[in-house]
Parts: sequence; C-alpha cells; structure tokens
Amino acid sequence: MIFQELNNSICKTYLLGCEATGRALIVDPVSTRTDRYLAMLAYHGLNLDYVLDTHTHADHRSACGELSVLTGAKIVRHFTGPQPNADIHVLDGDPLVVGNIELKVLYTPGHTPDGISLLGPERVLTGDSLLVGGTGRTDFAAGDAGQQFDSISKKLFTLPDETLVFPGHDYRGNTQSTIGHEKRNNPRLAGKTRDQYIAIMDNLGLPLPEQIQEVLQINATDVEDSEINYPSICELNKVFQMNAESVLDETGADSSTLVIDVRQDQEFNGELGHIAGAVLIPLNRLAAKTTEFEDDRDRKIITVCRAGVRSTTAAAILTALNFTDVHNLKGGMIEWTRKGFSVERKG
Ligand SMILES: [Fe+2]
Repeated sequence: MIFQELNNSICKTYLLGCEATGRALIVDPVSTRTDRYLAMLAYHGLNLDYVLDTHTHADHRSACGELSVLTGAKIVRHFTGPQPNADIHVLDGDPLVVGNIELKVLYTPGHTPDGISLLGPERVLTGDSLLVGGTGRTDFAAGDAGQQFDSISKKLFTLPDETLVFPGHDYRGNTQSTIGHEKRNNPRLAGKTRDQYIAIMDNLGLPLPEQIQEVLQINATDVEDSEINYPSICELNKVFQMNAESVLDETGADSSTLVIDVRQDQEFNGELGHIAGAVLIPLNRLAAKTTEFEDDRDRKIITVCRAGVRSTTAAAILTALNFTDVHNLKGGMIEWTRKGFSVERKG
C-alpha cells in the first residue's frame, strides 16, 4: 500500500494507493494543492477512484469537487454532510474498497456533525476528531464536545492500542501517534470524564479561523463566493430555527407559508425528495430570484435544504434583503425524512 501525507503542513491530506491495482483515494484534499496531488498520482501511476472529506472544513477550501471534475473520482461524504456535491453518502460501518485495500467508515461527530474517521490497514485517519495530543475544536460549525468525547472514547479508543493515528491537523510538528499513546497521554482525554472534557472544550478561548465564514459556507454550499454574498456568522446565528414538527404544522394544505428549497435541481427530486408545495430556488440563484417575490416580503418563509446549513445561509440572505419573517428548517430534509414526514418526488 502506498500511504503518504501530501501537504507537509499543519493541514493534512492523505493519499492511499493500491500498488497492485493502481487505484487510489485522497482524503481531505486542499484546493490550493490540486496540481501537487495530480503530480503525485501520476508519479505513482495511480488512478483516483475516490476523494473524501472527513468533515466540512472551516479552515481551507476542499478540493474534492475540483479533483472529481479533473479525474472522475467519486466524492465520498458522510450522509449528514450538507454539500450538494457528493456521489456516495456513507454511514458508520460502511466499507470503502480501493483496489485491494479495505477501509471502514467510522462515524465520529463532535468537531462537526458530519465527521468521519477512516479505518484502514494498521491505521486510522481521524480527521479533526482525535489529534496528536489534542482534539478538534467544538466551538463552531455545530460542534458538540460531548458527542466528540463519545466518538473518541466509544469508537476510536476501542481500536487496538497499536493502531496508528493519522490526524487531519497537527500544529506541533507531529505526523502520527497510536491509539494506546493517545489513551494514556492525550491531556484532554487521559483520565478525564465526559463532563471534564466538555468543560475543557468550553474554555479553550481560541480565535475563529481566518475567513471562516467564506470558507465554511463555500465548503458547505459548493457555491463560489463570487456568485453569492455570504452572510456573517452573526447574521447566521440570528436565523430563526424551526424543528421539523413545527414546520409540518406550518405547511398544511391551506397554509399561507412559503417554503423555499435551496438545494440543486437533482437533489429536489432525489433520494430525500422535497416538502409538498416547496418552491425550488437553488442557493446560487436566490438573491437574483427575490424580485419575483416582492409581494411576499412579509409572508412567513421557511427555507429548506439537505442538512439545514445551506438554508441557514439562504434565510440570512433573505432577511438581509428585507424579508421580515424568515425561518429555517433545522436539520433540513435529513431530519424531515428521519421523522418519517411525507415527501414528494417528481420526474
Ligand atoms: Fe476541521
């Protein structure tokens, strides 16, 4: 097996290649380094089958979309990933086969809701869940310290002690560790209870990453910033969030509520379907289309997408454009269908 970290920086991208079959996977590619990745694939004589993001990144633009276009590789993300551009949505325990290399997906949320780790031969790629001597922060992008403690203690720390750990980031020059070493020495985790861990994570006091709102929202929406005026984090935090039950109550046959679904065309009638009566306006066309809704400025509007992330951006955009009563379906169509509420699909 060819296994290589490709960035040689604090932000890690991994190449896994099967020498026997010439098939490959790249994990967490960074957009500014696409040429380097293509050069490494050519150098090793590998064809790229898959590109995978361990989670929605806030610190760098993902190159998954770009690499997929250039190589035909399929984009792999967790089922709860908010992006429109995924070819394969994986769940906990799903296999991923790259030539003769057998990998297994571990769902390890906490840093973000869509976090996965990838278990392979003698090693686990932990994304930004378990780091060397640390853990990924949980103070934005819907992070959850308790969930992260559970992901690490109940999944990653049940792997054999000798399992090699390759993290998504390292800020101190480390390149790898082992599960046993982190169990015994990780200062945030060794000997800590769940409550102690949550207290530690709640008091890190870290500054937000530079350009977080642009990077995070571009990665979550797959819409380049030149096409859209992204709201600030402050504006996003002010969006009224509605749970699926409340949205169901608001969207009966005689309801005057306007439901705007901001996903891509293929998603609207795809696996998750859409809410009956919803109007499809993909996020990148939303601002231009609002002229068609001049009479609805004071009407109740509920925005909808796959995971509730893109639609939060949409709700903030509409609010900034002086629509007065805008709400967001929290958890999006994933949550709606999880509740068993009915959907429509056409075409
Ligand atoms: Fe991250």
